[in-house]
Amino acid sequence: MKERELITEALKAREYSYSPYSGYAVGAALLTENGSIYTGCNIENAAYTPTICAERTAFFKAVSEGNLKFEKIAIVGSPKGEVSQYAFPCGVCRQVMMEFCNPKEFQVIVAKSPEDYKVFYLEELLPEGFGPDNVSDQ
Ligand code: THU
Repeated sequence: MKERELITEALKAREYSYSPYSGYAVGAALLTENGSIYTGCNIENAAYTPTICAERTAFFKAVSEGNLKFEKIAIVGSPKGEVSQYAFPCGVCRQVMMEFCNPKEFQVIVAKSPEDYKVFYLEELLPEGFGPDNVSDQ
């Protein structure tokens, strides 16, 4: 799966962003190890705290359908309209990635367009992260 295809899916998902309070629209596309793509958008709420980010929407859709192995995620976020910035995942979303992904292998693509993007390993965005291995006694 090419980066540009995943970014195109994230851009499509961003169209569904429900963000009347912040005006900040985010789309994400998550690639599983078996080649499926789960998309997500941010979904806000009048009570604010129930808001969920695009990345977690994509992860929770995938996990809730039995997918636990992931290769990479593309993220597109910006104030509504043209994408003017690279949107990096928030700390909570990085922690959710840490739960399901090997930080040395999982890639996070932040994009402005299918041609303009940057790629990071999760380890770079969440150094010394706390994950499932820390909790097990092995
Ligand atoms: N948001 C995301 O969807 N992903 C991020 O990684 C950063 C923030 C959303 C949450 C909220 O709806 C809006 O962007 C502004 O914070």
